[in-house]
Amino acid sequence: MVKTKIAVMVSGGGTNLQALLDAQESGVLTAGEIVVVIASNPKAYAITRAEKAGVPAVVCSRKELGSQAAFEEAITRTLKEHGAELIILAGFMSILSADFTRQWPRRILNVHPSLIPSFCGKGFYGLKVHEAALDYGVKVTGATVHFVNEVPDGGEILLQKAVEILPGDTPEILQRRVMEQAEWKLLPQAAQLVSEEIGKGRDQ
Ligand code: GAR
Repeated sequence: MVKTKIAVMVSGGGTNLQALLDAQESGVLTAGEIVVVIASNPKAYAITRAEKAGVPAVVCSRKELGSQAAFEEAITRTLKEHGAELIILAGFMSILSADFTRQWPRRILNVHPSLIPSFCGKGFYGLKVHEAALDYGVKVTGATVHFVNEVPDGGEILLQKAVEILPGDTPEILQRRVMEQAEWKLLPQAAQLVSEEIGKGRDQ
């Protein structure tokens, strides 16, 4: 079967990108292949991870490009050049407009480090999500993989996994546990599921 071409979009450390690359190596992700990594930040360590794996990495920085329109045009051009069929936001911290997301219905996945609808939406990203969960005092958190639409963290949920909060947790400790127990497992599973789905549609 022809593999679904995946673009992974990143902004930072790229541990979720690494989980996807490792899943490709180990045979967990077989229905899709990562053809390009797009980084919103030229300093993202995720770029080094892509290069080490032999995957092309392209920087599209909103700051450098000057406007949202120019930023999204650069992303679209890169996606087209590489024939991407599925976009995975893996710690991608820039906002994508409704104009952009409308062009990719059920073709953009995002991983969010909480159980949506808790601790999500505007302003909830990275460590802030875990700070909010600890401040609130919830005893269970987790991660969610969902389709992306025009509502921040509002698209259809595909997979979720709960993770315990333990006494003495700091945002950093909790972030690591949520990544290890949930994000790094869910995201490759979701990539496989949607890649298969796209493959079936293509073969019909
Ligand atoms: C991950 O925890 C991801 O879920 C989160 O940022 C981190 C990126 O880490 N994403 C969001 O908060 C998006 N709203 P990584 O660069 O090591 O994958």
